[in-house]
Amino acid sequence: MNLADLNKIARAMVAPGKGILAADESSGTIKKRFDVIGVESTETNRRDYREMMFRSKEAMSEYISGVILYDETIWQNAADGTPLVKLIEQSGSIPGIKVDEGTQKLPGCPGELITVGLDKLAERLDKYYKQGARFAKWRAVIDIDSASGVPTHTAIMTNAHALARYAALCQQAQIVPIVEPEVLMDGAHDIDTCYNVTEWVLKETFQQLYFQRVALEGMILKPNMAIAGKKSSKQASVQEVAEKTVKLLKSCVPSAVPGIAFLSGGQSDEEATAHLDAMNKIGGLPWGLTFSYGRALQAAPQKAWSGKVDNVAAGQAAFTHRAKMNSLASKGEWSSSLESKKAA
Ligand code: 13P
Repeated sequence: MNLADLNKIARAMVAPGKGILAADESSGTIKKRFDVIGVESTETNRRDYREMMFRSKEAMSEYISGVILYDETIWQNAADGTPLVKLIEQSGSIPGIKVDEGTQKLPGCPGELITVGLDKLAERLDKYYKQGARFAKWRAVIDIDSASGVPTHTAIMTNAHALARYAALCQQAQIVPIVEPEVLMDGAHDIDTCYNVTEWVLKETFQQLYFQRVALEGMILKPNMAIAGKKSSKQASVQEVAEKTVKLLKSCVPSAVPGIAFLSGGQSDEEATAHLDAMNKIGGLPWGLTFSYGRALQAAPQKAWSGKVDNVAAGQAAFTHRAKMNSLASKGEWSSSLESKKAA
């Protein structure tokens, strides 16, 4: 492991004004997204859609530091035969790869999941490195359902252990691990419950990272924000989300970690941007604080594109606009008035 090089990649991933595009939807998830816009989920349509984003010059060269790919995409070529990985590299962005293989039911813990994919991960990482991947992602999911005692310590500890095992294997393969323990916002819990569960999850995750000898300087954390569940009647203000999330992260994430890149987790596009912006306006943070959004970057371009060649320019404009808004938010320079000035 060359830690100086891992650190250099990690810092580039959270460079000022830049963040990550999570375009690593599994075939099942992208089908759900395409169903919404009435597009059939064929290999060619998935390629065309992602190629559209990767060819958005301004977004990719100015606002997007790296792209998380799904296994299918990292081996695909653009319509003109150029490997999609090359398109990303040529724009100055870094290719990355989702390496977890989804979730399974966790035995003995009804309703809880464990992320799988550690078997043969070392071999897979070597192949992905040769194909150009310089960072990877593994997502653990933790649900909140206080009435049924969820999450359990078993689920938190087992998922944190898997995250740390994955991260150690990545660093050994000279790949920067994005460590993503996601506390879901699907429930009816309030922001303080989310805060407490996320604190527990992050403390356990960093403990396991230490046990597995992961070098914090060569990783990126991808957490959820402290936020009320979608079904909660007590939604927190933008300022409360920002203040509580910053307090939470400061108490759990060592400053040796170069950067934190949030997931959007079901927030609306503009909410995800506003929250990131408010945190960076607070400032004084020991790590880069930016975005690694999937839905909050792609909902608008998906809608604008809707699978039609004639809409490629509109899809790219929508993607560029969201990328730019989040770039500004990563510097604390966004304001809602900029939302109406859509990119040409
Ligand atoms: P969302 O921003 O849509 O939550 O996706 C980010 C991600 O990579 C989830 O694993």
